[in-house]
Formats: sequence, C-alpha cells, structure tokens
Amino acid sequence: MSPDDFAQRVLDWYDLHGRKDLPWQQGMTPYRVWVSEIMLQQTQVATVIPYYERFMQALPDVHALAAASDDEVLHLWAGLGYYSRARNLHKAAKLVVSEHSGEFPRSIEGLIELPGIGRSTAGAVASLSMGIWAPILDGNVKRVLARFGAVEGWPGEKKVHDRLWSMAERYTPQNRVQHYTQAMMDMGATLCTRTKPSCLLCPLKDGCEARMLGEPTRFPSSKPRKVVPIRQCVMPLLMNQDGEVWLQRRPPSGLWGGLWCPPQLDGEEELAQWLGVQALRVHSRESLPALRHTFSHFHLDIQPLLLRVDASAGVAEAGQVWYNLRQPSRLGLAAPVKKLLKLVESYVPTVA
Ligand code: ADE
Repeated sequence: MSPDDFAQRVLDWYDLHGRKDLPWQQGMTPYRVWVSEIMLQQTQVATVIPYYERFMQALPDVHALAAASDDEVLHLWAGLGYYSRARNLHKAAKLVVSEHSGEFPRSIEGLIELPGIGRSTAGAVASLSMGIWAPILDGNVKRVLARFGAVEGWPGEKKVHDRLWSMAERYTPQNRVQHYTQAMMDMGATLCTRTKPSCLLCPLKDGCEARMLGEPTRFPSSKPRKVVPIRQCVMPLLMNQDGEVWLQRRPPSGLWGGLWCPPQLDGEEELAQWLGVQALRVHSRESLPALRHTFSHFHLDIQPLLLRVDASAGVAEAGQVWYNLRQPSRLGLAAPVKKLLKLVESYVPTVA
C-alpha cells in the first residue's frame, strides 16, 4: 500500500469515526493540547477527562500555570500518578513564559527542549495544535504500525523503535496532518486494541501484514517479563485529640515527590525508633487493613496503623502539617494516602 493510499484511508476513516468531541479538541491551543498529551502519556482518556477539565478551569493558560504554586499543580494532578509529569509540566510552563514570551515553540526541536516533551509528544502538539507536519509514535500508533508491517521485536529495542519511527515518517501526510494524527491515535485506541482488534472495521485491513499472517495480536512483541519486586512498609497515621492527622511533605524527587504523606517506615523497628525520636506519646494503636499500591517497577504493601497521640504532641514545622479531615486543606496527596485518610475519617472523635 502506498503512503498516499495509507493516509487517505486513515483520513476517510477519521471523517466517519474519528473523535471530535474530546475536551482538548475544543478551542484547540498548543497549551490545551500539550496538557492533554502529558496527562494522556500514561493514563487513559476516560480517566483523564475529569482531571483535565478541573485543570483547565483552575489554570486556563500557560501564564496561569507558570504562576501557580507547586502545591496547586500537584493538588490538581493528585490521583493521576507519575508525578514527575506534573513537575515537568510546571517547569515547562515557566520556561515558555520566561524564554518564549508565553508562546510555545513552533518546531519539534524547540518543543523537545521543554521538560517532559519527547519526540512523540512534540509531534502530537505540533501536528494537532499547529498543523505542522510531524509524525508521532505513542503506544497506540506503535501498535497500529507494528501490526501493519508485522514488525518483529519489542519496540523498546532501539532497532525496532527506529524502524517504527521510519514507518511513522513515511505514512504521515503533508495535508490534514492534525486529522491523520488524531485518527491514528483513535484507531489504536478503538480498533487496533491490544487483545481484541476489530480488523473487519479497520481501514488498513487490506495491507495489514499481521492480519494476513492470521495473528494480529502477536505484534508488537511484549517486553521480556521481569518479576516485579514487592516492598513492605508501615505507615503510621498519627491522630491527635482533634482528629487531625500528621502529614509530612516528601522530598521533591523520588516516589510521590513533593506530595504529602504520613511517615513511611520499613518495619516495626524503624517505627519504634522514629516514634522515639519524635518523643510522641502513643495512647492506642490499631492495625488497619493493609493495602497494595503498584508502581511501574514494584508493588508497595502498606500496613497502615492508627496511632492516637497527644494533641500537644508537636507543633508542625515547615514541611509538616496536622491535616484536618473535616476541613481538608488543598494539598497534593498520593492516591493511597487519599484512601487512607478517607478510611480514618470514621475514627475522628466527635465533638461534644
Ligand atoms: N492519547 C494521546 N493523545 C490523544 C488524543 N489527542 N486523543 C485521544 N487519545 C490520545
């Protein structure tokens, strides 16, 4: 199938079936598309939409984002995970304002220099919001192309990755590049799905080599499997007589960087030691149901403990708060911490 034929079929499909009502497709600007692309990097459309709407309400343009506090940005992101995305987004907004007078660079090279923007995200922003010719290769497009060409190997390998990029370049048309880009993403998300591709509905079925081989789902090969390690931790929820829970801000980089969490200790010994250092008097202790949080590279099994302590236990220092469950302040909380705080709400003493 010639590149022209390929692109024409994709565009015809777009006209009939492409998505045109996503929130970031309304009043499209580089800023709106960029924020959506960063949110969509590791998260599905349905999950992203409510976060996106809230984010845009609070921070409608790049100037608002650049001027926002770290906490505000993390608060709006809390629950989406992969927080380095939020930190990079914030940094990039400041750079767009300080280095580019608030205008996004109009080239792939310029966009890639901003933190958090790789070649595919740059391609998506440039093509969708500026109509600039630029190929993309996100997870969905990788799947479509790997199947179309029956490309062997895991796309994490350089050789395979390079081959897919050159296909992406070859098929991306000069005309209607924004519609083509959106259509390729949509085809990957709705037709050429990972486990159950709808080949009969696919505009590329006549040229698809994986389909001709009779095994579309064999492509692309999956990553060679590694066993994900399991780590354990103890998370004490220190509650004072007013029902406030002690949180501390995590260091800016690393797990849950910059978010507010209860202390996290490796085990009982470390907990006892930590409590000793804090000179906290614990009145009662109760184990709450354990929960598992899965990161990309390990599982974290969390044993939460409800510890009741004196209200006078300690005046919060910088980077620490007594978090009031009845009147929660707007802090960035990691997803499992949100769950835990919800759980301990029922333990807050009622006021007489
Ligand atoms: N995934 C990444 N970008 C997308 C977009 N613009 N529309 C739908 N899904 C996407």
